[in-house]
Amino acid sequence: MKLLVINGPNLNFLGIRERGIYGTESYDGIMERLKEKAKEDGIDLEVFQSNSEGGIIDRIQQAYHDRVNGIIINPGAYAHYSIAIRDALASIEVPKIEVHMSNVYKREEFRHTSVIAPVCTGEIVGLGSMGYFLAMDAMKEYII
Ligand code: DQA
Repeated sequence: MKLLVINGPNLNFLGIRERGIYGTESYDGIMERLKEKAKEDGIDLEVFQSNSEGGIIDRIQQAYHDRVNGIIINPGAYAHYSIAIRDALASIEVPKIEVHMSNVYKREEFRHTSVIAPVCTGEIVGLGSMGYFLAMDAMKEYII
């Protein structure tokens, strides 16, 4: 099984940014743990991060050509307004799970809406880095 994890803007600053909200573990630390778990589970996992909308869209389109079986995406702030990322995700017919480290529904009102969620299979919010692991488990055990 081939899975792609996409992280949007500012997620490369995990461990540095707003630690009271996102915790102290670095982006690389979380993604390394995720890759180790994928290896144990026999999942071919690729991890991608970009601070730009176009970069994320290009990677989603590449996933189609690469015949990826599922996409786990934390779109960062783009979740709340990027119709272009939503359209890119909608154009690929594989399961998609949206992940947010923080509980966006407990935060500012502008974070309560995700334009991405309606084109995803499911959404995991508020469970910190565990959200990525749960999403990977869900892909393996339940969805694919
Ligand atoms: C986030 C939530 C978004 O609202 C925010 O813009 C982020 C991180 C999360 O993982 O909790 O950058 O996606």
